[in-house]
Amino acid sequence: MDNLIRKYNTIGVLTSGGDAPGMNPCIRAVVRTALNHGIKVLGVEEGLEGLIHGQFRPMGARDVGGILQRGGTILQTARSKEFQTPRGQREAIRQMSNAGMDGLIIIGGDGSLHAAQALSEQGVDVVGIPGSIDNDIYGTDMCIGVDTALNTIVDAIDKLRDTASSHNRAFLVETMGRHSGYLAVQAGIVTGAEMVLIPEVSTSADQVARAIEDAYRRGKTHAIVVVAEGAQPNAQELGRLIDAQDLGFTARVTILGHIQRGGKPSAFDRLLATRFGVRAVEFLLQGKAGTMTGLRGREIEPVPLTEVINQQRAPAREYIEMAAMLAR
Ligand code: F6P
Repeated sequence: MDNLIRKYNTIGVLTSGGDAPGMNPCIRAVVRTALNHGIKVLGVEEGLEGLIHGQFRPMGARDVGGILQRGGTILQTARSKEFQTPRGQREAIRQMSNAGMDGLIIIGGDGSLHAAQALSEQGVDVVGIPGSIDNDIYGTDMCIGVDTALNTIVDAIDKLRDTASSHNRAFLVETMGRHSGYLAVQAGIVTGAEMVLIPEVSTSADQVARAIEDAYRRGKTHAIVVVAEGAQPNAQELGRLIDAQDLGFTARVTILGHIQRGGKPSAFDRLLATRFGVRAVEFLLQGKAGTMTGLRGREIEPVPLTEVINQQRAPAREYIEMAAMLAR
């Protein structure tokens, strides 16, 4: 590890925004790494809401035992509207100072990293850790939770294909991802979907109908279309449009929904979350507050929060083209 140039007495750790599988292993790594450096840790309950209202609890090594394999977050999480106001942020900083908290680690997605930057601008030593199944954060190849969510989606689509083939049906399967098509594209490739619809690429209902009809003509017994939640038209609309036409297959719609956020974290997510947690504490100690832990290739690097929140993660063209090319 590089030189340790900062000293901390007590740091806080919180999870914020949508939960993601792997947040628990991350909390465990933060707590145990900090304790190892002689730093006390306060767990902040219910994310930024808990920071504003002083919901802190001391975390010892035993408090994070047996949580590696648990989905969700033992600290609970919230989407805080109050934190977006200057008053909310002032109150959060006051609560931190009252509790003697001189550093903070925030695990969460886009909104949480914006909050981290807002605190950093006001002089708080904060390090962000990207945790979101959407994989829509600039500055990191992967976020905590993506791998587990993808495996859940793949498992569900494999099952849907069994029933689709038995009935000659087309399934429109909606995946999460907010404005990002990452999960849908990756899932489409590894389940052999006939088509993938994502917010980043415009596709018409007619194109979807032609792909389904074409699959029927080529003798397929099913058609799977993966539709990211942010795509237009959406899965429900497509289901109605497809069913109203005679394309060979009848249509069914499956919204995978919040099931994608649950479940025990995969080995990949446990390892990534653990590496992020350890490095986040080290970044604080190395005087690298105001950054996010980013996976870049094989390394975990400190990415300035200003970069993270001001830049857009580009959709992976390579994968989008691969998904389209292989859907034959
Ligand atoms: O950001 C994670 C995510 O699961 C998105 O994919 C989805 O759009 C959103 O959160 C759902 O939010 P909520 O749990 O508040 O319904």
